[in-house]
Amino acid sequence: MAEIKVRDLRKEFGVGDDKVVALEGVNLDISGHVFVSIVGASGCGKSTLLNILSGIETPTHGDVQISQDGKPAAKGYVFQSARLLPWRTVMDNLLFVQKDRSEETRARCQHYLDMVQLGDKGKKYPGELSGGMQQRVGIARAFSTEPDVLFMDEPFSHLDAITARTLRAELQNMWQETRKTIIFVTHDVGEAVELSNRILVFAKGGRMADDLAVPLPFPREVADPEVAVAKANVFRTFESIGALAVS
Ligand SMILES: Nc1ncnc2c1ncn2[C@@H]1O[C@H](COP(=O)(O)OP(=O)(O)O)[C@@H](O)[C@H]1O
Ligand SMILES: [Mg+2]
Repeated sequence: MAEIKVRDLRKEFGVGDDKVVALEGVNLDISGHVFVSIVGASGCGKSTLLNILSGIETPTHGDVQISQDGKPAAKGYVFQSARLLPWRTVMDNLLFVQKDRSEETRARCQHYLDMVQLGDKGKKYPGELSGGMQQRVGIARAFSTEPDVLFMDEPFSHLDAITARTLRAELQNMWQETRKTIIFVTHDVGEAVELSNRILVFAKGGRMADDLAVPLPFPREVADPEVAVAKANVFRTFESIGALAVS
């Protein structure tokens, strides 16, 4: 089981007059097969938190531990854009991040391409695919290394609404089937409520303003009244912290 422990986390960028406090006094415990969303307005430290959790950034102060059954956890990352290598085929983009090129590894990559409904596109180049398909390849690539914890930073924010909706449903299925721990950053409250069992609301200055459970069954229908109530709860938190200008 994956476990994430964050203690008294602080992150500053720059010095003197240019100093920015991106995160302040963040404490967090996450464990097991959960889908946790981090929501908040632009600039409130969401990406910084994800980058520290995934090891891309180091904290100024505080402690972060991410383990899987007591050992260091394997991590995966999906970015806002797919960041594929344009000169490699779809299958080669997945193979590029693997430890070996064995038949078993190829079969695993094919399995995750099938899961994102791109099983027949392995020989295509990224430039031949739509934006939504490219993001699917990025998601398949992240799952294909079978990480214990998957970090996703606004992965659907560049897609049109219909495509984003389809990809959310696919991601939800993949999360259920693979039983990974997913930490998902978004500025879209509806998206967070549709996908997560827990929502961390961040406020300006990088403080965690609320930690909400969303104990509704999956799959969730956007039109479901209980989903609307959960959404209203998150917006109430934003209102109480004076941050309703969520874009
Ligand atoms: N590498 C960096 N250098 C300087 N300031 C940064 C850097 N990364 C982020 N920041 C600042 O830290 C704050 C939080 O940024 P970020 O984590 O990207 O917010 P979010 O993802 O919620 O939009 C912002 O004020 C941003 O300008
Ligand atoms: Mg960000």
